[in-house]
Amino acid sequence: MSTTLPAIRIASAVDAATLSVFARRVFHDTFAADNDPADMALYLDYAFSESKQRGELADPARVCLLVEHEGVLVAYASVFRGSGNEQVTAGHPVELERFYVDGAWHGRGVAAPLMAAVREVALEWGGDALWLGVWERNPKAIRFYEKQGFERVGAQTFTLGADVQRDAVMRAPLGAA
Ligand SMILES: CC(C)(COP(=O)(O)OP(=O)(O)OC[C@H]1O[C@@H](n2cnc3c(N)ncnc32)[C@H](O)[C@@H]1OP(=O)(O)O)[C@@H](O)C(=O)NCCC(=O)NCCS
Repeated sequence: MSTTLPAIRIASAVDAATLSVFARRVFHDTFAADNDPADMALYLDYAFSESKQRGELADPARVCLLVEHEGVLVAYASVFRGSGNEQVTAGHPVELERFYVDGAWHGRGVAAPLMAAVREVALEWGGDALWLGVWERNPKAIRFYEKQGFERVGAQTFTLGADVQRDAVMRAPLGAA
């Protein structure tokens, strides 16, 4: 059995194709059972095309972190400093846009180091709070975020295909904030 630990690195544009395939799969794995297949297909095409990933990876307001095990992608997170939210108290808010661990790696100590790396990036940007939107029907993720110091501060809509859903908005302080 391998003892190599997963390693975290910052993604670049050359990772667009791999990330597109992985991000589609883990989003589908997470939400397909609770959503209409047509809505799911529309959203996957909209959000995770290779060209969209390439554009986001080239955006200086974003950082995408990849977790790899023996060269295979097992988790990713993306952070964005271009968005605020009126429900989030912060001078310099940083949005945690995506946070996904492959199902085979859940409960194996990948999520916490990835969140620590997210905090490091946000702090380097001068962020004083992290915020995110999470589907109200995703209790596993909400529990994880609560364990990581996030608190619910509001709600917002999220549109999956043609389905308008409700996300909880959560906030965690950064540094001494
Ligand atoms: C939300 C998510 C990132 C959490 O990751 P996770 O690995 O499942 O969560 P945890 O790190 O809390 O681990 C789960 C359990 O394994 C345990 N665990 C963590 N690291 C461990 C390790 N190295 N060894 C043994 N057990 C470990 C934890 O203690 C936890 O148990 P608890 O719930 O009783 O505290 C993950 O479930 C996920 O990617 N889900 C799908 C995508 C998703 O919903 N993303 C959010 C969209 S907004």
